[in-house]
Amino acid sequence: MRHLGTAFLGLAAAGLLAAAGAVAQDGSTAYGDIMNDPRIKDHIVGDKHSGFVYATLATRDMQEDDFENPAFTWVSLGEELWDKQDGAMGKSCAACHGAPESLRGVSVVYPKYRESTGGMAALEHIVNECRTERMGADPWKWESDQMLGMTAFVKLQSRGMPIDVSIDGPARPFFESGRDFFFQRRGQLDLACNMCHEDHPGDMIRADLLSYGMGNGFPTYRLKWQKLGSLHRRFAGCNKNIRAQPYARGSDEYTNLELFVMWRSNGLPSEAPAVRR
Ligand code: HEC
Ligand code: HEC
Repeated sequence: MRHLGTAFLGLAAAGLLAAAGAVAQDGSTAYGDIMNDPRIKDHIVGDKHSGFVYATLATRDMQEDDFENPAFTWVSLGEELWDKQDGAMGKSCAACHGAPESLRGVSVVYPKYRESTGGMAALEHIVNECRTERMGADPWKWESDQMLGMTAFVKLQSRGMPIDVSIDGPARPFFESGRDFFFQRRGQLDLACNMCHEDHPGDMIRADLLSYGMGNGFPTYRLKWQKLGSLHRRFAGCNKNIRAQPYARGSDEYTNLELFVMWRSNGLPSEAPAVRR
């Protein structure tokens, strides 16, 4: 059983939580009448809600129109890189994988257990494995335009497909450590992920409407960043907001946390690249 009272006190004590119901009553927020938008029904599966359900109407409009969605600048870069020869072996991604459509369904199962390393691999890890081991090329930095563009491009091939990560067999211990991370209080504000994203979706925190903290829209274009960003960047931002030490992007800690967060998102349609405030 969750300790709603304690969680609420935690957020209230930290001076973070706006009055409950602020959204419904206060039409002056950026959110307006978001719950009457018929589009949200495609982003709710059972009791799971995508971040789309808590997004402003303006960001929804942007996300749903590929010409308006700023993330597509990166998608175009990814598309270019797909066909581009790089590295000592003179290969492109297309040379081995063929048409990008051949990757439909691939991204929704990541992070995935990787035997060669005995750990979890996020999509970014696999892209770099192909670059270094199969192309003789340098790895891309996690948050580089190239990596963001390629992961957005690969995930776009699976847009609309349900997230479907496995936590069975060898993935289990990594799932458990991601779950522990999610429920661990940390930082000067002494808050855990669940205290915001399980106990308070639908409540305002400062100028933001809290969602369930799902991962099905990443990489996501954030207006605040003016850029596409990875899920690990978002984790680091949420850690810093409670004044906790962030981990490195691509670290085991964040990759295991990604597994847990994607497992929570299982069944929701892959929306990447989404748009958020
Ligand atoms: C103090 C409250 C708070 C805590 C604690 C917190 N977050 Fe967040 N998080 C936010 C806010 C505010 C946003 C932006 C609005 C939203 O989507 O909830 C956000 C957004 C997110 C998103 C993006 C959701 C989307 O659809 O774009 C993810 C994923 C996320 N958080 C994961 C986490 C994880 C994992 C942790 C624990 C390491 C965590 N958060 C801890 C407040 C918090
Ligand atoms: C020399 C051939 C080769 C090149 C070049 C190559 N790959 Fe791969 N790729 C593979 C092989 C082999 C695998 C592992 C077997 C598999 O799962 O398909 C793989 C796996 C993948 C996967 C995971 C597939 C899955 O089913 O889980 C992705 C995504 C991927 N590659 C993307 C890329 C991208 C992006 C590039 C270009 C930056 C690239 N690859 C370049 C051969 C290649």
